[in-house]
Amino acid sequence: MNWGMKNRMSRIFNPETGRTLMFAVDHGYFMGPTTGLENITETVDPLLPYADTLMLTRGALRNYIAPEKDTSIIMRVSSGTSILNKNLLHEGLSVSMEESLRMNASAVAFSIMVGAEFERDTLLAFSQLVDEAERYGMPTLAVTAVGKGLDRDARYLSLATRIAGELGARIVKTYYCDNFERVTSTSPVPVVIAGGKKVPEQDALTTAYNAIQAGAAGVDMGRNIFQSESPVAMVQAVRAIVHANATPDEAFEMFNDLK
Ligand code: R5P
Repeated sequence: MNWGMKNRMSRIFNPETGRTLMFAVDHGYFMGPTTGLENITETVDPLLPYADTLMLTRGALRNYIAPEKDTSIIMRVSSGTSILNKNLLHEGLSVSMEESLRMNASAVAFSIMVGAEFERDTLLAFSQLVDEAERYGMPTLAVTAVGKGLDRDARYLSLATRIAGELGARIVKTYYCDNFERVTSTSPVPVVIAGGKKVPEQDALTTAYNAIQAGAAGVDMGRNIFQSESPVAMVQAVRAIVHANATPDEAFEMFNDLK
């Protein structure tokens, strides 16, 4: 790993714990004005001190995040379909490497669709992104999106995760599932879990805990933080799980104390 790559990775993974709390607010690129993200500045600013990195689009970064903020950025660089399209997540590259470098990104995120009709498009586009990113010391984060009709089980998610790693991803984001050790133990690179749809706080904290105990290097959580009844309390509770090995009960107690 060259110096630039190492430096960027250290701005994502806390060097003291080797783990990360990614705060994802990139939903607008395919979902529009998502509940809780109507004004990203208002949502994100109070939470930034507790997140290791912020995952978002270039438009959100430019318009909602003050450049003086001390946070690392994971730039969403794939798009092409919206929730109104039946081929949701048939994505291609939508942001150049030059733009990501200009906006001082610490990583670029791209969705691949293993098992979908158009998997070949997304896998080859991702591989090209890896080639270019490696040239500039830019980590790539592959998001293993899951199409309709595919089970989010360890068999499928370990296959998609391993393919992403073999194609050159430096970080893979996937979904938590039973027997998650199978996913983490067969990945050549750190795995983080996506938070998913909003669920009760205690359930989201339990999932985060189970993922970390099964070898995840962190969480990339959005809705379960910014749609919480108390986002500032929730981000701190998740942080305690990721960086301080808090149990779900301890983290939930923390949430209730802080909210
Ligand atoms: C999906 O690919 C997007 O990148 C989201 O940012 C990601 O799924 C994490 O957000 P959430 O925790 O709301 O699922």
